[in-house]
Amino acid sequence: MKRQDSIVKPLLTDRWPLAAANSIPRHVAVIMDGNGRWAKSRGLPRTAGHKKGADALRNIMNACRNAGVSYLTIYAFSSENWKRPESEISDLMQLLRHYLQQELETLHENKVRLRFIGDLSPLVKDIRASIDDAVEVTAKNSAFNLTVALSYGARQEILRAARRLAEKISSGALKPENISEEDISRSLDTSDLPDPDLLIRTGGEQRLSNFLLWQSAYTEFYFTETLWPDFGQAHFTEALKDYARRERRYGTAEA
Ligand code: FPP
Repeated sequence: MKRQDSIVKPLLTDRWPLAAANSIPRHVAVIMDGNGRWAKSRGLPRTAGHKKGADALRNIMNACRNAGVSYLTIYAFSSENWKRPESEISDLMQLLRHYLQQELETLHENKVRLRFIGDLSPLVKDIRASIDDAVEVTAKNSAFNLTVALSYGARQEILRAARRLAEKISSGALKPENISEEDISRSLDTSDLPDPDLLIRTGGEQRLSNFLLWQSAYTEFYFTETLWPDFGQAHFTEALKDYARRERRYGTAEA
């Protein structure tokens, strides 16, 4: 268990969130669902929903920083998303390219460290180069941590970790009976991140969809019908309030 400091039940006063500083999640993970439906309901192409979704991401990142959250991990593109129509994939990649070019300077100025998790090998070369560059440029920043799950699937990540450990075993560096939970955590793409305290999924579905399966063993889930492009500061504050009301026991007896 990495942290227990969010267990303290807050007093929800009108000075919230400052009054409830103990119950601010350190790491928030988000499944940004509903871009397509947002666009469809307005008679717009799906890409318009993704663009609006990128704006929502900017707002939520600021909201995280203002609230004192240190880590934000977003599910930008899943392993399964490769099955979407080629035109939508290419629009999403274009948006990512644009995002990386446009936002890098601002992210760096704001001391944001950018990380990527997932199997980046199917991405086109120029995007991979931009990702490498963004990760390197921001590597020493520590004011905030934005992690983008891209071409990411948790089962595939666990499989990659299992292969890494198997290699250590076959080279004699590790014995099967000595494999620990820490070894597995350290072999995942998220090796240098704390586990998420709060996972938000917008868009009405109530499932994990292959996101951070190992890491979310003790994560609190918050599901909302609100579509991601509509998810703003007020919605985020609601999610934080809901989180603050919960008592995290990590499987232990009531305090
Ligand atoms: C799910 O909505 C959203 C995605 C698959 C993509 C999320 C991407 C962004 C918000 C763009 C910003 C991110 C970066 C890093 C550029 P959906 O299309 O599945 O919506 P639906 O369920 O309504 O169809």
